[in-house]
Amino acid sequence: MSKLRVVTLVSGSGSNLKAIFHSEFAAKLDFAGVVSDRQCPALDWAGAQGIRASAIPFPAGNQAERKERRPAWNDALRAQVAALSPDVIVLAGFMRILSADFVNAFESKIVNVHPSLLPAFPGAHAPRDAIEAGVRVSGCTVHLVDEGVDTGPILAQVPVPVLPGDDAKTLHRRIQQAEHRLFPAVIGAIAEGNLNLSTQTWQSECAMPQGSLWNVSWMS
Ligand code: GRF
Repeated sequence: MSKLRVVTLVSGSGSNLKAIFHSEFAAKLDFAGVVSDRQCPALDWAGAQGIRASAIPFPAGNQAERKERRPAWNDALRAQVAALSPDVIVLAGFMRILSADFVNAFESKIVNVHPSLLPAFPGAHAPRDAIEAGVRVSGCTVHLVDEGVDTGPILAQVPVPVLPGDDAKTLHRRIQQAEHRLFPAVIGAIAEGNLNLSTQTWQSECAMPQGSLWNVSWMS
């Protein structure tokens, strides 16, 4: 079986990228490239691993200037990613909303990890919003990316408890531990043919990542 060509988009520390790279599934993956919207630790780390790493810097300037330059940036990002011929595009802490053109060009190929149990708490402050709402359980979600913000079809989720005394930071840290197991397992399942992205179906419940199903035995 040929390896799954993975292109990863990053903006920050890249802990999810590292988790995928060091996971048991990495042997089934071809890390074709890492692309970012800025200089960031994730990009430097990728370069140091010998992964093709490139930045398409998001336009600087005031709001009007950024708006004017945005279409050219969208095109440059799409061209860069297309040149890497991805089977799957992994958003690992990429902090930009992708254009409709980008999403359409790579339909059913873009996956994201989000630090909440979507559709609860979409957006950039999910752990903070979960704390403020007073929920006792949050978690992480891996989903396909569509044109909305954190609205695409859900592929897998893992619950994470909110503990007394948690703040946004401590909760996010605990959720990220779950992300670092769930995200590699989902990418691995795609590589192994256990998850079909076009239909969003798993081969069987047994193929779903550990921890992503509730133990519901107490209900019967
Ligand atoms: C993760 O918590 C992810 O849920 C969110 O951005 C964060 C990225 O962290 N989308 P990292 O760059 O992978 O460390």
